[in-house]
Order: sequence, then C-alpha cells, then structure tokens
Amino acid sequence: MFFRRAPYDGMDTSLRWHDGVSMSSFWIVGCGTMAGAMVAGWRRANALPDGLLAIRPSGRPVDGVATVTAIPGNGEPTTFLLGIKPQKLDEVAPLAEPRVGPHTRLISILAGVELASLRARFPRAGSILRAMPNLPVSEGCGVVALVGEGGSARAAEPLFAPLGHVHLARDEAEFAAVGALAGAGPAYVARFVAALAKAGVARGLDPDVVARIALHTVLGTALMAETHGESMDSLARRVASPNGTTEAGLAVLDSDGALDRLVARTLAAAARRGQELAAAARG
Ligand SMILES: NC(=O)c1ccc[n+]([C@@H]2O[C@H](COP(=O)([O-])OP(=O)(O)OC[C@H]3O[C@@H](n4cnc5c(N)ncnc54)[C@H](OP(=O)(O)O)[C@@H]3O)[C@@H](O)[C@H]2O)c1
Repeated sequence: MFFRRAPYDGMDTSLRWHDGVSMSSFWIVGCGTMAGAMVAGWRRANALPDGLLAIRPSGRPVDGVATVTAIPGNGEPTTFLLGIKPQKLDEVAPLAEPRVGPHTRLISILAGVELASLRARFPRAGSILRAMPNLPVSEGCGVVALVGEGGSARAAEPLFAPLGHVHLARDEAEFAAVGALAGAGPAYVARFVAALAKAGVARGLDPDVVARIALHTVLGTALMAETHGESMDSLARRVASPNGTTEAGLAVLDSDGALDRLVARTLAAAARRGQELAAAARG
C-alpha cells in the first residue's frame, strides 16, 4: 500500500506541550470513531500520550489504552479530551467539570461547539482548545484544524503533528470553514470515489474490480499532486489533450460550474448544520 506516511519520528514518546508541560495523564471521554482514530494515529506513530485513559459507557476496549465506563470520581488529568457527540455535551459536562481544574487543558473535537460555550461549562479549566480532525488521522495523513484560548493551539501542535497536517486557524470562523471542508471531507471524497465506481459498473465493469480502480485513481492523483506540489488545474490539463476523451468528460463536470456549485452547496449545508449546533450549545 502506498500513500502512507512513515511513523512519525520528530518527537520522543513522552509528549510535551511547547511550553514544556508534560501530558502525564490524558483522559478521553467518548472514544468512538473519531477519538479512536486519533488514538490509532498516535499508536501508529509511536506517540501515544502518557497516562491515556479512555472513558466510554460501553466499555468496549481501546487497543493499548486503559478503558473505563465512567468518568473517575477523583483526580485531575493534565489533559481532558471531549470526544462525545455535541448532543451529549450537557449530559457529560456536569460529570466531567469536577475533574477539570486549573491544571487541566481541555480539548474538544465537538463540531460546532464554540470556545465560549465550552468555557461556560468548564469555568475552571486551565485552557480550552478546539480541534477538528478528520478520519485519516488514523493513518497519519489526516488534517487537524486547531483554535484555542491564548496560545493553546500553538502549544498543542506537538500533540497533533503525528496525525497529519495541522492548521492553526486565525479564529473560530476560519476553524468552522476548515472543519466543514476537512472534517467532513473524507465523506465527500468517499462519495466521489463511489460515483466513479458506479459509473464504471454502468459501463460494464466488474463491481469489485472497479472499486479498487476508482480508489487507486484517487490515491494516485492525490499522491502525485502532493509530491510535486502541482495545482489541480495544471494536473487536469496534463491529463486532457485538446479535443480528446478527457476533455469531453471535463466539459460535463465544468458545464455551468456544475461540480463547483454542487460542492459549494454541500459545504454550505454542513456549515449551516454547524451553526445550528453552535446555537444549541450557546443555549
Ligand atoms: N466522525 C468524524 O469523522 C468526525 C470528524 C470530526 C469531528 N468529529 C466529532 O467527534 C465527536 C464524536 O464523533 P464520532 O463520530 O466519534 O461519534 P461516535 O463514534 O458515536 O463516538 C461517540 C463516543 O461517545 C461515547 N459516549 C456516548 N455517550 C456517552 C456518555 N454519556 N458519557 C461518555 N461517553 C459517551 C460513546 O461511547 P461508546 O463507545 O461506549 O458507545 C463513543 O465512544 C463529535 O462531537 C463529532 O462532531 C467527528
């Protein structure tokens, strides 16, 4: 398999924030699909934070991580990551708050829930940071947007670097825009790959064969663009010879900006939902 980053070797495994504070106990409440992907990415990079504890009601084990079913009744972790669904915040926050004191850095991956809403629920937290990762963090080639109080986003860079490309957002508006693109993006790319495959099947190809071909077409294109820093316009031009077959296909995608408009509407719908979640969390 190609397009995998080598295990991250830029940092020792006892992770530290930029300001030198050790992440010696690191609790994750809600360790499902997304937080689980982050744990997988850290494990893959040999960069699992020290003192990891996963808290999930089902008690389903998280590979290599101590797992409990409820937030411990005592202790104050140095890092507390919220990995629950936004709709669960008001159920979980009252149970978590007593454990989040001035020495705790709170990290939230909740879509749409703003720093002010988190601060209202965790008034004693040392600092609050929002992170918006996407699922390929499990392979070390994700995107993680960060925005936080004070210098907390910059301080958290070493934690997220093993997971892929880290973007420090200027403010929460930019963070939301990046989240709508990158956080949700793997789902949109998955749909495009599936559409390529379906079109191949409609043209008589075997479904199993075409699924792999569509996937490798996308992988190869992304790898080539990343390796050479080539723009997508230039890449498309290199494939399409004048008046050839690719140009005939591109004319359909480009007609009236059909694909651009469809994707813009897709991101706008995700952004609207983010605003709804933010409004619900503001109360
Ligand atoms: N999925 C993505 O691609 C993605 C991308 C960016 C951001 N996010 C954000 O990540 C967060 C989690 O999404 P997800 O897709 O990972 O959801 P998920 O797979 O459903 O995981 C939710 C986790 O919350 C736990 N949980 C539920 N009720 C709880 C409670 N009362 N106390 C403690 N833990 C509880 C679940 O426990 P069990 O494991 O025991 O069921 C599970 O571990 C969301 O806020 C979402 O906005 C997701």
